[in-house]
Amino acid sequence: MKHFNIAIDGPAGAGKSTIARRAAGQLGFVYVDTGAMYRAMALYFLRKGINPADEEAVSRTCSEAEVSIRYQDGAQQVLLNGEDVSGQIRTEEVGKTASVVSAYMPVREKLTELQKELAARENVIMDGRDIGTCVLPQAPAKIYLTASVEVRALRRFRELTEKGEACDLEEIKKDIANRDWKDMHREHAPLKQAEDAVVVDSSQMTIDQVVEAILAVAKEKGLKIAGDCEAAGAACEEADSGASDAVRSEDSEA
Ligand code: DC
Repeated sequence: MKHFNIAIDGPAGAGKSTIARRAAGQLGFVYVDTGAMYRAMALYFLRKGINPADEEAVSRTCSEAEVSIRYQDGAQQVLLNGEDVSGQIRTEEVGKTASVVSAYMPVREKLTELQKELAARENVIMDGRDIGTCVLPQAPAKIYLTASVEVRALRRFRELTEKGEACDLEEIKKDIANRDWKDMHREHAPLKQAEDAVVVDSSQMTIDQVVEAILAVAKEKGLKIAGDCEAAGAACEEADSGASDAVRSEDSEA
């Protein structure tokens, strides 16, 4: 059976997870956060004490790390060798390590295969860096979701400040720009806009506006949405409750 897949790519902190999760809730699609899979692999190397810069060691040991995902009450959980590590992967250290090890081909091949399998089984909204270009090049709807470095840094700064964590806006900006550069300039599957992707810049948009824009792209590309909100029930109510939220950088560290 052929499924309708929606690919969302873009830099860290553009709000991909928040948006993709809500859009998936409204459509009754499965949301697949591929960044979480790279983070789980990164966690494995950190735990093993393997230097992420050591490509040979990472490539040699990556077959030992079994990453899988499962869904509980609609939320994605990431398992590393059977252990739920969904909470532990949301740290700066894991994020930075994921950015390094995701540049290596054996790591990418392993996770790309898993992602393709998931998309072949279900209607998915999958977010990442290479979904529209490498993982699901045939996806009918592709979105490149971005926002300026300044806006992404400010969102992150606010989130950390709200949590009472000390942080420096200029440092955050530098980190974001660095992560962008690494993700965009690696040799394998770099972050880039697919030729047929629609660009959505969330800098001045609310979450609802971005979700609307994504649903509009999906409809334009042939997705039939039966009765829009009525069809999605509770998921839709949950999405509606955040009507005036600004987009958050939540796809980065919690
Ligand atoms: O989206 P995120 O910040 O959780 O992703 C963590 C890292 O994983 C990111 O720096 C790049 C990498 N990544 C990737 O290379 N390809 C993907 N499809 C998703 C994430």
